[in-house]
Amino acid sequence: MKTTIERRAAVQLAQLETEALVVIAAQLAAATSIDAVNAATGGAVAELFASGEFSGKALETAVLTRPAGVKAKRLVIAGRSAALGVLELWRLAGTITRQLKGKGVHHLTVVLPEGVGAEAAAAAILNGVASANFEPDTYKSDRKPERRIDTLTLIAPQSASLPALDTAVREAAIVADAHLFARELANEPSNRLTPTIMGQRAAAMAQAAGLECELIGEAKARELKMGAFLGVSAGSAEPPVMMVLRYRGNPSSKDLLAIIGKGITFDTGGISIKPAANMEMMKFDMCGGAATLGAMQAIAALKPKINVLALVPASENMPGGRAQKPGDVQIAMSGQSIEVLNTDAEGRMVLADAICYARQQGATHLIDSATLTGACVVALGHVNSGVFTNDEAFYQIFQRALERSGEKMWRLPLDQEYADQIKGTVGDVLNTGGRWGGAITAAQFLQEFVGDTPWIHLDIAGTAWTEENKPWMPKGPTGAPTYTLIELVREMAGR
Ligand code: BES
Ligand code: MN
Ligand code: ZN
Repeated sequence: MKTTIERRAAVQLAQLETEALVVIAAQLAAATSIDAVNAATGGAVAELFASGEFSGKALETAVLTRPAGVKAKRLVIAGRSAALGVLELWRLAGTITRQLKGKGVHHLTVVLPEGVGAEAAAAAILNGVASANFEPDTYKSDRKPERRIDTLTLIAPQSASLPALDTAVREAAIVADAHLFARELANEPSNRLTPTIMGQRAAAMAQAAGLECELIGEAKARELKMGAFLGVSAGSAEPPVMMVLRYRGNPSSKDLLAIIGKGITFDTGGISIKPAANMEMMKFDMCGGAATLGAMQAIAALKPKINVLALVPASENMPGGRAQKPGDVQIAMSGQSIEVLNTDAEGRMVLADAICYARQQGATHLIDSATLTGACVVALGHVNSGVFTNDEAFYQIFQRALERSGEKMWRLPLDQEYADQIKGTVGDVLNTGGRWGGAITAAQFLQEFVGDTPWIHLDIAGTAWTEENKPWMPKGPTGAPTYTLIELVREMAGR
């Protein structure tokens, strides 16, 4: 998508030739732009509000086709809340895109709303439109990829600084590409995205982006004694791959942020097999890994002053003659022994060895994203991702990243009493802590491998996928938490 930014006075809006001109305002006289288009149309906008057909609330839109007095083919009036921020603006841009792209509209012109920082607004709108261009129909014979917005024009007030806005737009386009990359990977079925193929895709991305990439295969993983990682793929005909990507943006610093993403290309549950109903969903179990790779693609292009190591442990969790069985004990790379009570608790096992490897490589900060537990979906639904941390200072930086990304997350606790639930009988640690507090005991398991390294764990089981169409997004992979990972890196690099 090509995006340009132009400065225009409100009185010039009526002269813009475009397929759709979008003006955002909750009511008449709420912004100079809405008043200007109302005046140009001889009061058509005032009439729209007065008719009761349009109340101006958040995410509400009305389309006036070929209104007299303006050159645009369509005038889109969009409502807003008083507290309009990144998330609402992103959703609004996506909603308008999805409404219009099916109607042959390819060009949008959006007037930046008042009361929101121009750079943040431009980035949110660009990302909302780009994200809504995505359709999950990769393998449909009659897909219509041409139904998309391919030109976006953003209109800034005369007072805005163009160089700052140009930078914001250029960087937002990088973020949008990364988000799309993550969703396309996540959407691939498991027969077309095995750990091997995922590794190849990561290597190709790294090559194109200028990142270092190393693929740790089964033999090397065995040398490294990654017993937890290897246990998960033991029942599969597909060999596991641990992807390792490196970005060195601050060679003089010893700080190293490790981003780790769960990469289970399919989770049958293994010998503790899942019920058949909805099992097809489990191709999504590599969404954390996809977001990690997407974030790395963006980091390579944004070039923040920071060192980043990305790890994606990819495996297929299958039953089979060589599969690990309940009661088996695996020795993790760290030397800790794991009692596998349930082979369906596989994500934490592949992550344990990735965390250990990251620390061995010198990671000073860790963040992992994983579709880790159904229990997190029970706790937070499909609205918020779960966040866990062992470090308040790191969490404060993370919260600033969340404000910028607009992604919804909610903190859950860690506590020794939950850790007590996973104390082993035969080995050091159990891979499940029983029925209660399942999202927390999974996080506690990871913490056993983190030691004293500042760490954040994101449980994205409920947020990485939407099972229903949203006005701003079709059902399918959401891309979460790609935006947040990118913003965290920028925040840590001092932007
Ligand atoms: N990938 C699943 C988590 C999951 C389950 C995500 C349902 C979305 C919907 C994970 O590997 C898993 O199976 N977790 C188990 C853990 C349990 C065996 C302790 C779960 O949540 O049931
Ligand atoms: Mn599982
Ligand atoms: Zn899983």
